[in-house]
Amino acid sequence: MNRQESAKTSGKLAFLKLFLLLLLLGMMLMGKMDLKMGKMRRSLDDEMMSESLGQMNTVNMERSTDEVIEKKEDRFSIRRQILELGCKNLQKMQELVDEGDFDKLLKFHEDIYNRKYMKSDPKNVCRGPSASKKPDESRAKLEDVRHKVNIFYEDITNMTICLPPKAGTTNFQDALAQLRGRHGRGILPRLQNSDYRDASDAISKTKLFVLNTRNPFERVLSAWRDKFSSSASESRQDLYKASINVFEEEPAPDGYVSSFPAFVNHLAANPSEFTRNRHWRSTYYHCSPCHFPYELITHLETIDEDFPRVWEELGHEMPKMKEQYKQSPMKSKDASFYYRDISSDVVKKLYINYYQDFVLFGYSPDLVKRVIRASNSNKPADLNKQKMSRALMNFEDQTFLNEICY
Ligand SMILES: *[C@@H]1O[C@H](CO)[C@@H](O)[C@H](O)[C@H]1NC(C)=O
Repeated sequence: MNRQESAKTSGKLAFLKLFLLLLLLGMMLMGKMDLKMGKMRRSLDDEMMSESLGQMNTVNMERSTDEVIEKKEDRFSIRRQILELGCKNLQKMQELVDEGDFDKLLKFHEDIYNRKYMKSDPKNVCRGPSASKKPDESRAKLEDVRHKVNIFYEDITNMTICLPPKAGTTNFQDALAQLRGRHGRGILPRLQNSDYRDASDAISKTKLFVLNTRNPFERVLSAWRDKFSSSASESRQDLYKASINVFEEEPAPDGYVSSFPAFVNHLAANPSEFTRNRHWRSTYYHCSPCHFPYELITHLETIDEDFPRVWEELGHEMPKMKEQYKQSPMKSKDASFYYRDISSDVVKKLYINYYQDFVLFGYSPDLVKRVIRASNSNKPADLNKQKMSRALMNFEDQTFLNEICY
């Protein structure tokens, strides 16, 4: 090797070394940037999370150990977070329901159920009848005069509790009567219609806000069993019979004046709350969950565990529970059993008509999927009959009432 050649080689080597060094440096830099990006992304996510969950979720701030999270993330705190997240997105829910696209609705339901971040437009919030200060817009104004408020104020424990019909309310009614040394339904003080316009009075005197509810698939089944049995009030049945009859395919089962599938078809065809009897009006309608600050949401499905929690929160001795939900006839068969002969399109429509109740009170999208999977996917919905059914309720156009975004 002559000098020239060796100089060339060492030059090449130096170049190669430099190249390698640069490559290494570049890789390190990239790695750092990646790390930084990751950090940025994470902190952004945190921000979004805490923004979306707001004050209700203190978990983020106290994230010291996983234990803390688990302890705080009990069923009730999760239900409450879901409700608050849902209430922040009522306008979006209204738009989705108006559009009526089942897949989109289910996706949104999943997002709320999983407490996913959702951007809500602060300029586009719902007010509507129940929260409105204007009497003409207030829900009370739209009510028929016989309307009963189903929110009770219990002045021994200072609990305000919403008990919509057909959600296993007997337990609570009996418990509240027991506080007064009585049994049965007792006479319970109710909130006034004016409390729907202005909740401040109710808020100032209440120690704990409770809302008891039930999954809508079971609730409408229970309403049918109770109100369309042959022994139930005929005058009530007469208000709905014609509209339900449109869908009857065979005689009603023994002991009933209408069949359950026909009743569900009627409910699916009539989305307006104002065509419904209070026994199957939405819990959303009865309780105004985005107006009163409910803290504890109890489900009939888990009432044996949920009921004691109410009294624990109140620091009051638990009254005896009258009926055990486990003994209810509904428990012997899954609700999906009763929906097996009903068109899947109709079951989807029923879901949409009770959408707020499914989403806001923390019922799982899987439950919805299960009932729809069990229903009859070969039977299309009959749009003409649906129209007839609405006409027979003297309410052909039910699109204008804007009933979620109160
Ligand atoms: C309920 O409220 C009243 C009036 O504010 C109060 O005097 C009473 O101590 C409260 N009871 C409970 C159990 O908090």
